[in-house]
Amino acid sequence: MGKMRTQSAPWRAAAVLASVLLVGGVAACGNSDTGGGGTKDDGKITMGFSQVGAESGWRTANTTSIKEAAAEAGIELKFDDAQQKQENQIKAIRNYIQQKVDVIAFSPVVESGWDTVLKEAKDADIPVILTDRSVDSADKSLYKTFLGSDFVKEGKLAGEWLVEQKKTASGPVNIVELQGNTGAAPANDRKKGFGEAIAANPNLKIIASQPGDFTRAGGKQVMEQFLKANPKIDVLFAHNDDMGLGALEAITAAGKVPGKDITIITVDAVKDGMQALADGKFNFIAECSPLLGPQLMDLAKKVHAGEEVPPRIETEETTFTTEQAKEALPNRKY
Ligand code: AHR
Repeated sequence: MGKMRTQSAPWRAAAVLASVLLVGGVAACGNSDTGGGGTKDDGKITMGFSQVGAESGWRTANTTSIKEAAAEAGIELKFDDAQQKQENQIKAIRNYIQQKVDVIAFSPVVESGWDTVLKEAKDADIPVILTDRSVDSADKSLYKTFLGSDFVKEGKLAGEWLVEQKKTASGPVNIVELQGNTGAAPANDRKKGFGEAIAANPNLKIIASQPGDFTRAGGKQVMEQFLKANPKIDVLFAHNDDMGLGALEAITAAGKVPGKDITIITVDAVKDGMQALADGKFNFIAECSPLLGPQLMDLAKKVHAGEEVPPRIETEETTFTTEQAKEALPNRKY
């Protein structure tokens, strides 16, 4: 066993002074707890992420983007799938607070009911980043920023395209709408944007509108009901590709030709949706990009370092017709 080294009094004093200076220096660099959260400053950022679920192709691509970007950025990711339940998300966020992660990020399944848990995160000095979907909290200090799409705009783009297509229609155009899950920001906002846009032509009428929960099964089931109850359906507006894809099965089973007998407009532009558009089964897609991972990790680093970030960061998106989908498909990553 080696001999223990002892220090003389002047050396001990110098060592204490040096460590005080070192700790002070690190804190002054803003690397410590300035961004809130983390207990230990080991230079590593830990993010707790609560995902909505795995309801759609969009969501799967979003989860992959977040996991890959975290690994790339050297951020330790704690990931929880809430299975489309708000109570699961609240539980996951509380766990992250208890674990003293450095940053919490989440995509809220619904818009309302977050104030209490967000306040708990704020009191624990853990910054929160909203990603993909926002919350309706009046107190904007409960989160640092919201990164995601403008869902109202997506609905509007879908509606404006339809207005243009049907501008010569002389009689009523019957529209059915497949909404996302009740209370979700993209369901509320896409409905709003679409409704506002089609108001430009009084011939365009939404004759039925029901939630299909953003899933293929939901889209199929609700479309079957729509078809049974309504002999004349001219247009389907589905709040995402997956519900549109489910609806295709119901439409075909009812002996109708999707894309011809019924014009189909969706949102997302995931590969399967783009394929349906290229094949002429869908007619138009407003894009919603799931590739939020790299921007999210960048924001996490900034808020952890105590830097100011813009309160709202909007994702850049486009729209697709059949011709554009054919062109884009070979390079579509998700
Ligand atoms: O919040 C984004 C929406 O959620 C996507 O449009 C949909 O596919 C997903 O489930």
